[in-house]
Amino acid sequence: MDFSTKRVLVTAGANGIGLAIATKFQELGAAVFVTDIDPDAVDKARAGGLLAAVSDVSVEEQVRELMATVEAELGGLDILVNNAGIAGPTGPLETLDTAAWKSTFDVNIHGQFLCIKYALPLLRAAREASIINLSSAAGRLGMAGRSAYSASKWAVIGLTKTLAIELGPDKIRVNAICPGAVNGPRIDSVIAAKAVMLDLPEDEVSALYLNQSSLGRLIEAEDIANMAAFAASDMARNVNGQALAVDGNTEKLY
Ligand SMILES: NC(=O)c1ccc[n+]([C@@H]2O[C@H](COP(=O)([O-])OP(=O)(O)OC[C@H]3O[C@@H](n4cnc5c(N)ncnc54)[C@H](O)[C@@H]3O)[C@@H](O)[C@H]2O)c1
Repeated sequence: MDFSTKRVLVTAGANGIGLAIATKFQELGAAVFVTDIDPDAVDKARAGGLLAAVSDVSVEEQVRELMATVEAELGGLDILVNNAGIAGPTGPLETLDTAAWKSTFDVNIHGQFLCIKYALPLLRAAREASIINLSSAAGRLGMAGRSAYSASKWAVIGLTKTLAIELGPDKIRVNAICPGAVNGPRIDSVIAAKAVMLDLPEDEVSALYLNQSSLGRLIEAEDIANMAAFAASDMARNVNGQALAVDGNTEKLY
């Protein structure tokens, strides 16, 4: 895979899965820009050789400015990776705080809407552009106690499949990636919140999470980065409108 002529934007690209995706594209020769809401993480990404800016994907004006910066810094955009997504509140639905419910949708789906809306002029000007939206195994299965997260990630699949049809005539491909539980600090806090909800010790909940996958192990951020690179590459030139699972075969979520 050679991305030496490609310009890539990864949202929430200064940490976790986003950073793994940004690093992968950089290793494969692309010019990569990351954006993140966390200024310290953005400084670290810059120190690691990435172009980077602070912005919040859920704030329209910031997204509009971000795309102007990307155009100025990269000269255009071929690949947009909508990676920003928050875990949202944990608990039975009637206990959930309304503001926390709404902010989950603000980041996880409205953020993707805004980034695509303002990136589209750049993507249309590129040759065979590609959009990758991060969904989740919770975007194709239910997940008790995580209704806001799961519903927002199902929405990502609806957005992806609809845009694949709308943008097909422009030769812009749109796919989603659905990771299972990914090793890292995010899953540790998700497990801790679930342990409180179920009134179980954290190590028992950890074991449940490990065994969600038929392979009995967590997914690594690099597994998601590999799928992102493949999905954006010419090797996947006819892969469009798909929800691509990278979850070791996950059939039930805890
Ligand atoms: N970690 C998992 O197990 C897992 C599983 C399935 C899907 N996902 C999805 O993968 C994506 C990345 O997950 P992760 O585990 O790397 O996340 P993470 O919690 O490690 O956060 C990654 C980054 O998102 C940034 N961020 C948060 N809100 C933002 C906003 N409004 N605008 C810009 N940046 C913002 C944070 O500052 C952080 O640097 C998310 O969409 C997540 O839902 C993760």
